This record gives sequence, structure tokens and C-alpha cells, in this order.
Amino acid sequence: MQDTALQDIRSAETLEALQAVKTKYVGKSGLVTKELGSLGKLPPEERKARGAEINAVRAAIQAALDERESVLKRAALDARLQSEAIDVTLPGLPLPTGGLHPINRVYDDLIAIYRRLGYHVVEGPEVEDEHHNFEALNVPWYHPARDLQDTFWLEDGRLLRTHTSPMQVRYMVEHEPPFKIVVRGKVYRYEATDATHESMFHQLEGLVVGERVSMSDLKGTIAEMARGLYGPSARVRFQPSYYPFVEPGADFAVYWDNPRGESKWLELGGSGMVHPNVFKAVDDLREAAGKPRVYEGLTGFAFGLGPERIAMLKYGIPDIRYFYANDPRVIGQFRGELG
Ligand code: DAH
Repeated sequence: MQDTALQDIRSAETLEALQAVKTKYVGKSGLVTKELGSLGKLPPEERKARGAEINAVRAAIQAALDERESVLKRAALDARLQSEAIDVTLPGLPLPTGGLHPINRVYDDLIAIYRRLGYHVVEGPEVEDEHHNFEALNVPWYHPARDLQDTFWLEDGRLLRTHTSPMQVRYMVEHEPPFKIVVRGKVYRYEATDATHESMFHQLEGLVVGERVSMSDLKGTIAEMARGLYGPSARVRFQPSYYPFVEPGADFAVYWDNPRGESKWLELGGSGMVHPNVFKAVDDLREAAGKPRVYEGLTGFAFGLGPERIAMLKYGIPDIRYFYANDPRVIGQFRGELG
């Protein structure tokens, strides 16, 4: 029995299997325990020797059990440590990275073009006053753009700028010509939203002032921008249009070979020659601030356009509201695109 028991113990591969062997031999009703229990049936003179013999077998089995148990326990611990160990040579888990918003990517493209042409990039306040947003831009009080329906008015009489054009006025009050600037930033309109209208969107505004700045400078600049955006074959078209702060005024469109399909004229923005009333309003503000009047006799051109339109066509985004809904399924497509 001792030989088979030791054999069983050696071949137990797990602690559970060893426990079964233990029960089989030295448990309450195990084989060795039973032998001890039957000692009483022996004649008294045999009991002592037989008892000693069984106890020796029991001790040998118990010793073998203990030793095997410590071996198996150690093996189990090793296996656990192995499975929990950190392999510092494995590649790390990828961290989710951010990316540039499509509007900022379009701004970057546009601004790179204008920097090449020597323009300064400026920004201005989103909370404006009526004078800068309308009055100084030759938008009279009765103009429909002043309507409550277009403008978010604040309780203190100020407003959220409806376009980036007020920055023309602020810049001209602070700086003397000649200069070339573009203004980037958010603008706000109080209107119903749909696939092409949002109550907040973006503009890029341009302003060039100097001696004998002309309409052909404007056309050349917009054509240069179009080629920068859409390649050397891009064409531009100007159509007469009315904006109070320019005269003459013109809307411009770009003809674009769209790789996604249908090529067509894309209406991009408005432009024109700075209205003399704007120069006059600026000089009035300068004078009031103790600065010399410097704009009389100069000319300038201005333009304004919306990066959302460019981005919608460039990236095939069908609804302007997707830009600002913060849905990761949309914005996540621009992850990691930092160039
Ligand atoms: N401010 C105009 C708008 O928001 C866009 C614009 C038109 C800007 C003509 C200009 C311009 O500078 O010359 O609709």
C-alpha cells in the first residue's frame, strides 16, 4: 500500500488531485485509517508490532504528501507570477490622439497662402459694439442687417459680431497704412439652422490699404488664393454685388475640378473696394483718440469668406451642423491629421 500511495502522490499534478490522494489514504475513511481501526480485532500480542508498522506507513505517506504539496504550491505560485508579470519590452498600448478640426485645417491652408503674400494675421473681439459692427462700416440704422432677426443683442446694448468686418475698423484705427491683413474668427447670426446655416460659423476677412490699391489687385489676390487652394487650373469669377462697406462690391466664385465628382462654380465670398465712408469713420475714430487722420486719398480692397463652405466641399461633409455637434464619428475622422 505504501508503494502505491507514494506512486499516486508522485503522479498527482495538481493540488486538487493531491487532496484526493490524501483523502484516499489518510482521510477519515481512508485506507490507512481503516487499517488502524482494525487493530482492535487483532490478538493483543500482535497489536503493538502491527500498530507500529501501520504508523510508519502513515508517516511515510504523510511526509510524501507534505513534500508534494509544497512542490505543487510553489509551481502554482510561479504560474501566477508568470501570468501577472509585465514584459517591459512589449510595445505600449496606443493612446488616442487628437487632431485638427477640419475648420482649422482650412484656416491653416488659407493663412499659409496669405502669409506667403505678406499678410499679417489678426483676431478681434467676438463681443462687439454697434458702432464697429455696423455704423462705421457704413451700415445705416435702417439696413436690414441690423434687424433683430439677424443679430444676437446683449443686454448691455452690445452684440455678438455678425461678421469679421468690424476688425477692419479696429485695425485701421490702431495702424497706419500701408498694410495687408487677414482676420480669422467666429461670427454669430440669429437665424434658423439647417444643413447650410449655423448660428455660429467662421470667416476669413482680408483688408489691404495703400496708395493706388486697385480692383485688379483684389482680383489677382483672390485668383492666387484659388490656385493655392485648388491648384493651378482654378479659375475665379466676380459678379457685381452690394455690401455697404465697399464700392464697387463683388461676390466671387471659384471653378474647381472637384475630385469627388461634379465640378462647378463655388460661391466663396464677398469683396470690393473699401467705401470712402469707412475710411472717414475710421479717421473720425482716430481723431477722437488723438491720432492723425491718415486714410483720406488712399484706396483699399476687402474680402470676406467662409471656411465652412470650403471644408464641406473639401471633405465631403454634407451638413454644417456636423462641425459643431461634437460627434466623435465625424470629428474622429480627422484624428492624427496634424499636417
Ligand atoms: N462681411 C460680409 C458678410 O459677412 C462679407 C464681406 C463682403 C466682407 C464684402 C468683406 C467684403 O470684406 O468686402 O457677409
